[in-house]
Amino acid sequence: MKTALITGGALRIGAQITKTLHAHDYNIIIHYRNSDKEARALADTLNQVRADSVSLLQAELSDIQAVKILANSIDNLDVLVNNASVFYPTPMQNASEEDWQKIMDTNVMAPFFLSQSLSATLSKNQGCIINIVDIHAQRPLKNHAIYNISKAGMMMMTQTLAKELAPDIRVCGVAPGSILWPENKVKLNDEQKNKILNKIPLNKQGSPKDIANAVLFLANSSYITGQIISVDGGRTLNQ
Ligand SMILES: NC(=O)c1ccc[n+]([C@@H]2O[C@H](COP(=O)([O-])OP(=O)(O)OC[C@H]3O[C@@H](n4cnc5c(N)ncnc54)[C@H](OP(=O)(O)O)[C@@H]3O)[C@@H](O)[C@H]2O)c1
Repeated sequence: MKTALITGGALRIGAQITKTLHAHDYNIIIHYRNSDKEARALADTLNQVRADSVSLLQAELSDIQAVKILANSIDNLDVLVNNASVFYPTPMQNASEEDWQKIMDTNVMAPFFLSQSLSATLSKNQGCIINIVDIHAQRPLKNHAIYNISKAGMMMMTQTLAKELAPDIRVCGVAPGSILWPENKVKLNDEQKNKILNKIPLNKQGSPKDIANAVLFLANSSYITGQIISVDGGRTLNQ
């Protein structure tokens, strides 16, 4: 039985990655920050399917000490999915040092040091790291400079660690296009949503299952490393 850690694994895309890997016989460690209730509910449901197959770890990933404590509490791991992220607009005129710190620490620093701290067990198990990147790592989303930069960092992290951690650990990525609208303070109006949808050749948003299936594919693909698969309905063709 293999074990996967999914950061931000209690909600939205992370929750679907949790469910998909669990349905394919992985034991799961769900990392969460604030979503205690949702994490417990998901773990209870999946533990009813297979007893003791899901455990929970809480951590604020922008805090390096918390990242280290999280990693140190895991002694056996096959797959690390760096999914947790911060996403909100940071127009150049208003972007603050606090925004920079929060977004870069959560989206880049934490995945890097989790990869470093967990590399011993991943290496022992010939495991893999799967980073959830974004199509905007390559083509910027207007007014989201810090987020774009963080995801570009994650893209290079995928490639550079694939080289450095080979041959014992594979490192890959999935770059989602538009999958779920943001639920935080930056809600999009219908006009903004239609503008995005009109650029997608497949003419609709993807679903969290599309991302989770790509994660599963990469986790099972023992001869793929350093690759980032765009799962975007063809959106990058129109960017
Ligand atoms: N949604 C999309 O359409 C889309 C498009 C392109 C790329 N992506 C990428 O796909 C991944 C999942 O997207 P999503 O929309 O499902 O993500 P999300 O809802 O924005 O965030 C996922 C989780 O990240 C956790 N998180 C955020 N900041 C954290 C911090 N400082 N410390 C610890 N945990 C933190 C939160 O956990 P808690 O709730 O427990 O606090 C949150 O539930 C992300 O990497 C995102 O960049 C998504």
